[in-house]
Amino acid sequence: MTESPPRVEIRSLPGLVGREVALAGWVENKRSSGKIAFLQVRDGSGTVQAVVSRADVPEGAWADIERLAQESTVRLTGTVKEDRRSPTGVELQLTGLEILHLTEDYPITPKEHGTAFLMEHRHLWLRSTRQRAVLRVRSEVEQAIRDFFHARDYVLIDSPILTANAAEGTSTLFETDYFGEPAYLSQSGQLYLEPAAAAFGKVYCFGPTFRAEKSKTRRHLMEFWMVEPEVAFLEFDGLVDLAEEFVAALVARVLDRCGDELATLGRDTAKLEAVVPPFPRVSYREALEILREKGRPVAWGDDFGGDEETVLAEHFAKPVMVHRYPVATKAFYMQPDPDDPGLALALDVLAPEGYGEIVGGSQRIHDHDLLLSRIEEHGLPVEAFQWYLDVRKYGAFPHSGFGMGVERFVAWMCGVPHLRETIPYPRMLYRMYP
Ligand code: 4AD
Ligand code: MG
Repeated sequence: MTESPPRVEIRSLPGLVGREVALAGWVENKRSSGKIAFLQVRDGSGTVQAVVSRADVPEGAWADIERLAQESTVRLTGTVKEDRRSPTGVELQLTGLEILHLTEDYPITPKEHGTAFLMEHRHLWLRSTRQRAVLRVRSEVEQAIRDFFHARDYVLIDSPILTANAAEGTSTLFETDYFGEPAYLSQSGQLYLEPAAAAFGKVYCFGPTFRAEKSKTRRHLMEFWMVEPEVAFLEFDGLVDLAEEFVAALVARVLDRCGDELATLGRDTAKLEAVVPPFPRVSYREALEILREKGRPVAWGDDFGGDEETVLAEHFAKPVMVHRYPVATKAFYMQPDPDDPGLALALDVLAPEGYGEIVGGSQRIHDHDLLLSRIEEHGLPVEAFQWYLDVRKYGAFPHSGFGMGVERFVAWMCGVPHLRETIPYPRMLYRMYP
């Protein structure tokens, strides 16, 4: 009896030419002439073509191969052969095959399917080449985010998901019942990071965030992942520098590590290679001027819509950093500009190519009485914010931070227009299945 060869990952095959190996995976596709069959087998690490001649295998094995349908699970043995036509440079000459599960009627066939159908089958759609490329980029981006802050000595602070108060406006809260009391799903970890910044200096959180946005745009999800740094004694100009360094580092990391995925997605990487500091910095006032020149006037005090963001970003080939917005357009906690208290020290980073606002941040109010009056002006319950006000009562300190939505960043990197493909299981208006 011959010993069965070791099971390897498909991605390691180019280094194993001439060796006999075992694999396990899913049959993506099959072609057979009746004499010779070609199987495309995927194991998650890669895809390989396995070739088998009827003459080389017992009749039973050939019958098994004939029965194989798309997404059947198989265990294979074979010899790794060099093959110049293959994208990986190798194929597998089959010597044995065991069917683990014979799949019938896999719903997602190589023909075109509509988005509604694919979303309904998201749990299976994940297996497709494009979706795997996007989610691998996401995984790399998430690791790059952790590496960025870890390398700079930030402390990771996991903020709560169940919260007693709003962080980003009361109109987008998901309310739930907390033993008879209302509780809300977190819109941002920021408020919980600020006290932690007094403990550790530099902190960040990274987790799921919830917004009940009754909008059906391609840029909004109900549940998305946000990374938020918060830094003690960092003032506004330093915050803008940090956001620039952060975005540039993530883009560079994706270019460095995700070449195969970007190629699979047909992404024009020249557009990403252009994303190197310095990024243009324009004030809200200057942004209004640009929009007026482009025939898209916005009234002073209005926020930019998706279309305005696209026009602004198209004006520059790099992310554009818009700063100093009218106080009324922004959140209650933002520090007023000392040179013009009608403006908030707020920053939005708009991505090129129509991907919209990827980063939002600000310097925070650190004066107790000013913050208290803003909480009151915004009609927020002062009681629920006592702990947040405490940060201004015991060792108040200037501080700043921002938040970046991972899905918007990944959509931009991958060149996919809709956020629904950038998160494994998107939560959208009228869709929670699967
Ligand atoms: O601008 P936002 O609302 O800022 C905050 O939540 C601050 N508390 C962050 C901070 O200063 N620590 O959201 C930040 C980012 C946006 O720029 C966008 O990338 C993303 O979060 N975002 C969304 N992504 C997907 N779907 C939504 N509904 C989003 N809302 C915001
Ligand atoms: Mg924002």
